[in-house]
Amino acid sequence: MNEIRPRRLRTDKVIRDLVRETRISEKSLILPLFIKEGKNIREEIAALEGHFYTSPDSVSYEVEQALENNIKSVLLFGLPNCKDEIGSGGFDENGVVQNAIKEIKSRFPEMNVITDVCMCEYTSHGHCGIINKDGKVINDETLKYLSQIALSHIEAGADMVAPSDMMDGRVSAIRKTLDENGFYDKPILSYTAKYSSSFYGPFREVAKSAPAFGDRKTYQMDYHNAREAVKEAMLDIEEGADILMVKPALAYLDIVKELKRETNYPICAYSVSGEYAMIKAAAKMGYIDEYSAMCESAVSIFRAGADMLISYYSKQLSQAIRKGDIG
Ligand code: PBG
Repeated sequence: MNEIRPRRLRTDKVIRDLVRETRISEKSLILPLFIKEGKNIREEIAALEGHFYTSPDSVSYEVEQALENNIKSVLLFGLPNCKDEIGSGGFDENGVVQNAIKEIKSRFPEMNVITDVCMCEYTSHGHCGIINKDGKVINDETLKYLSQIALSHIEAGADMVAPSDMMDGRVSAIRKTLDENGFYDKPILSYTAKYSSSFYGPFREVAKSAPAFGDRKTYQMDYHNAREAVKEAMLDIEEGADILMVKPALAYLDIVKELKRETNYPICAYSVSGEYAMIKAAAKMGYIDEYSAMCESAVSIFRAGADMLISYYSKQLSQAIRKGDIG
């Protein structure tokens, strides 16, 4: 019999915990929040069970819940009542996200407020940019709008902006605008490798942001490509990104690993709405145990090399960490 017996380190829980290779802290978790225009709204989101639409005036409740679970970072998405061709709600200083930022920062200055910077939640056509008469998304024209959205979030008090549109050159355009306005110390969390994915389904139902025509394949990445993610990462770094994101997470763990190896930048993974929905649905059918599947998936994302995770399970993961089940 071989003298090397890996099971020696598996016989006792304390020893198993001792030799764990992946350590997770709730400090690495980010919780998405959906801000809906209106007053006094707290409504469960059917497509994302356990998550709530909240109006800017009611957002404190969600933030309190996050803080109670030791979650120190939130990612805000805006759901305006009116949309138009140019997504003007996105850069309105009294827009839904801007008002939520002001509310959060006035009551909980310690909360790290990150905002999604994109146009699809605000445009009537649902694309992430300005379109021309042929329905094509015009890259460079879009950059001006994205920069204004980012600036308006930072002016309202956001701590960090996260552009998710996948236009070329958006990181440098946003960086330049922020710097010109004196916000050189506000970081950019770039959606660096954002794939054109079917896993965004529940989110698009929530944000009513599915494109009215065509798809997002001319700007989001083709899921056959991995080297291209490295190219996007190099461009984002050159343009001034501070943190690089891979999205979705579970089907893209190789990309997480690759960016971790190829760059010396912090890597963020976004476990998207469809990943959450899959676990929920399978658990409901009785096919898997929700808690264990949640823990296993989150750990696998960190094991692949993520430094931080955006998850719809952030609060529950934080509890699992404190219980000692993971981390
Ligand atoms: C906006 C945006 C999307 C998501 C985050 N930012 C939707 C999309 O690109 O269609 C998806 C998040 C999720 O599914 O949880 N562009």
